[in-house]
Amino acid sequence: MEKITVELTKNPKQKPVGDLPFGKIFTDHMFVMEYEAGKGWFNPRIVPYGPFSMDPAGVVLHYGQEIFEGLKAYRSPNGEIRLFRPEQNYMRMNKSCERLSIPLLDVDFCVEATKQLVELDKDWVPSTPDSSLYIRPFIFANDVGLGVHAAKNYIFCIILAPSGPYYPEGLDPVKIMIEDEDVRAVRGGMGYAKTGGNYAASLRAGERALEKGYSQVLWLDGVERKYIEEVGAMNVFFKINGVIVTPVLQGSILDGITRKSCIQLLRHWGYTVEERLLSVDELMGAAADGTLEEAFGSGTAAVISPIGVLAYGDQVCQINNGDIGEVSQKLYDGLTAIQWGKAEDPFGWSVKVCD
Ligand code: PLP
Ligand code: COI
Repeated sequence: MEKITVELTKNPKQKPVGDLPFGKIFTDHMFVMEYEAGKGWFNPRIVPYGPFSMDPAGVVLHYGQEIFEGLKAYRSPNGEIRLFRPEQNYMRMNKSCERLSIPLLDVDFCVEATKQLVELDKDWVPSTPDSSLYIRPFIFANDVGLGVHAAKNYIFCIILAPSGPYYPEGLDPVKIMIEDEDVRAVRGGMGYAKTGGNYAASLRAGERALEKGYSQVLWLDGVERKYIEEVGAMNVFFKINGVIVTPVLQGSILDGITRKSCIQLLRHWGYTVEERLLSVDELMGAAADGTLEEAFGSGTAAVISPIGVLAYGDQVCQINNGDIGEVSQKLYDGLTAIQWGKAEDPFGWSVKVCD
């Protein structure tokens, strides 16, 4: 790969003070690289943050050939900046690329580009509690024309957003509605890929849930509408009768990096974790008879998000009296301690960027 060139901004922006929103403020620089069929990826560069110009017939506007990733840089108590399992994000990005016929990238090069960009904008990494620098790599087709086919030109870009918690509730339990009308993804579709279409498909149900006072939607499988899948921006876990259950990966949900880290941590601590099919009837039955002890979501943006209320049709169940459960709290503490470089990292997940 070519060397990454750097053009520094001539107009540094003012850095935010106080509470940070999620994903609304962006740093001074971004990473950009292009792809052309026959030539490969070229011209990797860090440039001042700014808009792309786009032709109205740009294919991504019409057919949605795009994918993205999400990871974070954390400022540890000794001032170091650290990433959490960044190679996992770029390995997953390649799986999304493959699904959407987008050319693959070199994982090590992407991690290196991320480190260089974060290091350049390191003064933007917040040090306030529960805040971090959200990193958004994405790729979009850059051909012009209305024919439906895989593009020959692409842009890969990484932008950085100093951010606070994704949910305004923070660690307070969220209310989730199980969706029985719309479906988000089916096996053989794009559910396992991180692509805009999956999120677009989720918006209508999300709006309906908000109107009814719920934060997000919990999806059922798209064929039988029977099995629990995932929430809009996180994977889900349930503690039923002492055992931790999470939906098995079958191609219709995201292979979450927080999910796999939670499974590894929980097993390391001696919990039994089952990755299996979990029907909504089993779940709501457990909620009704009191064997559903805890429920929580996991995600980069959401971290560990306890679920306090689950609604399915007319059935509304409170979980653990609407309080954060013991396992959710332990996972939140254990995971964030590793992410922020505050605790020993027995798995080698946390990667140093710079001091
Ligand atoms: N599921 C969906 C649909 C998501 O958007 C996310 C967020 O990235 C997750 C799950 C959690 O994945 P990760 O833990 O890799 O952030
Ligand atoms: C993430 O957790 O990184 C996500 O991408 C979730 C979301 C903001 C779509």
